[in-house]
Amino acid sequence: MIATELTRLLQIEHPVLSAGMARVAQADLVVAVSEAGGMGCLGGVSFMPDALRAEIRDIRSRTSKPYAVNLLLPESLTTEDEATWAPVRELWDAMSPAQRTKLAGVQALLTPGAVTDQVQVVLDEAPPVVVLTFATPSWFIDAARSRGILVGAMVGSIGGAQRAAASGIDFLIAQGTEGGGHTGHVATMALTPAVVDTVDLPVAAAGGITDGRGLAAALALGAQAVWVGSRFIATPEAYGHDAFKARVLAGHSRDTVLTKSYTGKPLRAFRNQWTTKWEGDPSSVRGFPGQYAVAGERVETGYQDGDLDWGMMPIGQGVENIHELTPAGDVVTSMVAEAEAIIGALARSTTTSVE
Ligand SMILES: Cc1cc2nc3c(=O)[nH]c(=O)nc-3n(C[C@H](O)[C@H](O)[C@H](O)COP(=O)(O)O)c2cc1C
Repeated sequence: MIATELTRLLQIEHPVLSAGMARVAQADLVVAVSEAGGMGCLGGVSFMPDALRAEIRDIRSRTSKPYAVNLLLPESLTTEDEATWAPVRELWDAMSPAQRTKLAGVQALLTPGAVTDQVQVVLDEAPPVVVLTFATPSWFIDAARSRGILVGAMVGSIGGAQRAAASGIDFLIAQGTEGGGHTGHVATMALTPAVVDTVDLPVAAAGGITDGRGLAAALALGAQAVWVGSRFIATPEAYGHDAFKARVLAGHSRDTVLTKSYTGKPLRAFRNQWTTKWEGDPSSVRGFPGQYAVAGERVETGYQDGDLDWGMMPIGQGVENIHELTPAGDVVTSMVAEAEAIIGALARSTTTSVE
């Protein structure tokens, strides 16, 4: 049993949090992780508001354990300013109905007002925990707090950690550049202790963590839990095409690339023909979220159709250490058992060498 200040705050048994991965982390994965004693996080950004409400209710009907919902609240998504939305609207309007259907998973990020409606749904449904990415607006934190919702924030830099801590959140996730999805430039090994030393809040480590060795290392760095994305793709409960999961099992760290070609922000994904095409033309990449619309069908065809050449497939460098499709609950329990064994063995070997 590994108990920390963060497991006590979140009221969970094990210090393993599954990442709120858009598309991949739907109710099945969240329930499996929470039921195993970790904390599952719903990839909330990929749901239009009504679907988000249904998904949260589905989770609540299947587990009484704590779970989280991830939201992206940068001003570019919550603003009602017409001029800000104009370029996105123009790209959306130019699409065929079939193309729009393919973009269902990110439609909320391309629809003015949808993220604000997601927020209202989350506040109404009041999940135990919300994890924010990109921004920690005080209007949301105040509203969440008044409903008893704990708020965590994912950051990729010391500056981001300081800003998030000052906004009044309850815990932080320090995500190193190894991680899959949107990520910064500092490695987990350097970022985690620096964030722990900078803020007076519990910190979870993320980026490149796939097993008990990673959990033990994160605890040694001062983290109080791990936030794990890529490892949970290789589970039966994760949403995603079998070809995508097979690519994960066969993947190497060198197969990943940090690219703005899907979303306009740096995102670690499998390198393929789409990312390589944009490497030669970085200046024409649109900003976030407009590049989603430029990438169009590419955003969905990876997860949905298993299009390995042209589809978006976020993945971290830890893919090198993922070899088996494993039930999500077993990922949680084996990670904890392995970390406990490592910590016990290290303690014994240290005692022996001192004697
Ligand atoms: C497929 C995939 C989708 C992701 N989607 C999101 C997301 O919607 N929101 C978010 O905050 N982070 C997202 N991330 C990043 C994760 O939250 C997490 O920080 C990262 O996966 C940790 O690194 P790891 O993949 O090495 O475990 C995603 C990551 C992956 C692999």
